[in-house]
Amino acid sequence: MSPQTTFTVDPWGIAEHGLDLGGQARAESVFALSNGHIGLRGNLDEGEPHGLPGTYLNGVFELRPLPYAEGGYGYPESGQSVINVTNGKIIRLLVDDEPFDLRYGELRHHQRRLDFREGLLRRDAEWTSPAGRTVKVSSTRLVSLTQRAIAAVDYRVTAVDGPIRVVLQSELVANEQLPGGAEADPRAAAVLEAPLVAEARMAAGTKAVLVHRTRYSGQRVAVGMDHLIEGPEGFHVTAECAEDQGRVSVTTVLHPGEELRLTKFTAYGWSATRSLPAVRDQVEAALTAARYTGWNGLVAEQREFLKDFWETSDIQIDGDVELQQAVRFALFHVLQAGARSEERAIPAKGLTGPGYDGHSFWDTETFVLPVLTYCLPDAVKQALRWRHTTLPLARERAAQLGLAGAVFPWRTIRGEECSGYWPAGTAAFHIGADIAVAAVRYVRATGDVEFEKAYGLELLVETARMWRSLGHHDAAGRFRIEGVTGPDEYSAVADNNVFTNLMAQTNLRAAAEAAARHQTVAAALGVDTEETAAWRDAARAMYIPYDEKLGVHPQADGFTDHQLWDFDATPPEKYPLLLHYPYFDLYRKQVVKQADLVLAMQVRGDAFTDEQKARNFAYYERLTVRDSSLSACTQAVIAAEVGQLDLAYDYTAEAALMDLHDLGGNTKDGLHMASLAGACLALVAGFGGLRDHGDQLSFRPRLPAGLRRLAFAMKIRGTLLHVEITHTRTTYTLRRGSSLNLLHEGEPLRVEPGRPASRPMAVPETPERCLQPPGREPARRQQQSGPAVGSGAEPPHLAAE
Ligand code: BGC
Repeated sequence: MSPQTTFTVDPWGIAEHGLDLGGQARAESVFALSNGHIGLRGNLDEGEPHGLPGTYLNGVFELRPLPYAEGGYGYPESGQSVINVTNGKIIRLLVDDEPFDLRYGELRHHQRRLDFREGLLRRDAEWTSPAGRTVKVSSTRLVSLTQRAIAAVDYRVTAVDGPIRVVLQSELVANEQLPGGAEADPRAAAVLEAPLVAEARMAAGTKAVLVHRTRYSGQRVAVGMDHLIEGPEGFHVTAECAEDQGRVSVTTVLHPGEELRLTKFTAYGWSATRSLPAVRDQVEAALTAARYTGWNGLVAEQREFLKDFWETSDIQIDGDVELQQAVRFALFHVLQAGARSEERAIPAKGLTGPGYDGHSFWDTETFVLPVLTYCLPDAVKQALRWRHTTLPLARERAAQLGLAGAVFPWRTIRGEECSGYWPAGTAAFHIGADIAVAAVRYVRATGDVEFEKAYGLELLVETARMWRSLGHHDAAGRFRIEGVTGPDEYSAVADNNVFTNLMAQTNLRAAAEAAARHQTVAAALGVDTEETAAWRDAARAMYIPYDEKLGVHPQADGFTDHQLWDFDATPPEKYPLLLHYPYFDLYRKQVVKQADLVLAMQVRGDAFTDEQKARNFAYYERLTVRDSSLSACTQAVIAAEVGQLDLAYDYTAEAALMDLHDLGGNTKDGLHMASLAGACLALVAGFGGLRDHGDQLSFRPRLPAGLRRLAFAMKIRGTLLHVEITHTRTTYTLRRGSSLNLLHEGEPLRVEPGRPASRPMAVPETPERCLQPPGREPARRQQQSGPAVGSGAEPPHLAAE
């Protein structure tokens, strides 16, 4: 089966018909279930065949040495890698003498469907063993959004012919063997052999528990399982365990039409501090609660949680059913990544795969949190509180680098810098401002003053201190920030990166304003008026380079003077460039991996005129190769703003289909969470024209010809605003709350309950379509009609990260 036809187009789910053994790893990422606390890849119940088995717990990692050919001062000494913990998904089935293994026998039917409204992964299979016995297997799996330690599966096997002797082995498997060997791609994960050391085990009745400890990071991980069993009279149950294995077996004989049903509850608990009995008991308690709720109860809770989510967060699209599916898929996975992460990080891949070693980057604050702010604000608070818990480490890092305040890590699991490559790691200081701005957005959107006092202010203060010490006033009084890396990783250690400087400016101003609002807390943090005045001065004097000759902003000082990358001499197979060319060459040429200046125009639109936006966008389009999946969504937003609506539509689809079409060829390592969240931003900030960097939300709606209608909702300061855009008008409706002031096309608009406000669609000019480097144009989005199966069109292979 070719990858693009595997999944059926369906607005509320992802279904796979048949089984593509070669594409399994990708499907496992797509079908991953998570609640942000635990994550299960969509591996088959029986464990094998698999692409990449994966069970992840947020924050559970192992330390590993970071070897340097040549070390240097301030280089991190060890890295952190997410580990595949004890696999509690496995239910093996023996049919007479044959293991139910889809590589053998005849697979008559196989279907999986992930339902976004139910939060369930359902599977149906009919299989004839090599010995000619036929069984039907159906399973339904969930990772609970309401009981965060719990995953469960309802597994049923029915004899089609027979009598058949069946054995079900429900397993806990620690230190699972992982496929692998040396990965040439630096973006994949390090494979750690047997990271778990056995500490305790028990098995009795229908239950088993295993406790392990990671060897170096010293985290204790407990997993327990318990079962409910229904079947013909006289089934037999045994439980046993070994160091790395817990097993509950059920055996019986099934006559044609008879069913054996096993409901498996699995609970995880982990801690770096709690004692063995404490972690074990936590898991047993979670299991007790899950059994008490029961399978039907868990399913009902899941539906209820998601009902509320979709009622307040759905993005509806008329005119492109595949994009509708993709954007719901995106929202569903963003929800899964953040829902219960609770003072832990949200990694670049969520908990869907080990890519990037399970690290969190600026992706979270820049792409994921802006989406969650307006649909699941509590998740944003939790994510920022996690950053706050890492402040002591960030202060230490700043001190080590000779800077004031806090320097947050470019990539990390626990808070320590794990990037061994300084130019595209620590030098990307903008992450400090990305965090600060996410906190400002959260407070503005929710009015959560308590958060601002307890966490937000300190994040702002420590990052402002960092900027003040990193930059300096030159002889002309301009505040300059030199030797930093902006979002575009094909430039590094440059002076006055416009994105960085504008974000730092927002950060410095916001810190001064928040300190003025909360003077006592600010004083306790050692902030005085002299310091806030220095922040204000730096913000006011922030230097933003501009190339008068070309009439565009250079991404950083001197960028527009660099030699142009020779795109004509770069064949398609040489992308992504980072895998085929040395960084030194990329750094000294005009070639852009991902939106940088264009992102600055989104997050600080107020700093550019409309004309500058159009000119800058056209200039950077010719240079941007989108070797990062974090680019298309931003290009979509600004393309829409400058009137390039079809181009914006193409980029939106690219961001949304990144994983469903495996455009980067690496969905197998986990989903691209920033691109998925970015697809939502492309719709809401692109076509909706939402900007939230001012005091009020502002909208400039536009719709490409390919879409008939776009509708979305936003939670803002206790209200629920619904926005509906068609080609003729935009209607704002307040579904909750008393009133809301916003800007539509720059004009104030007050929306009140029961009185939807409607405005006619502005007719923008249609400028000529901008050009991209040859071979790097986005696929043209065809206008879609009605529900269809597959897109039919061959998706381009982007070979992006
Ligand atoms: C991008 C970074 C991003 C990282 C993780 C890299 O390819 O250039 O901006 O943070 O991937 O997604």
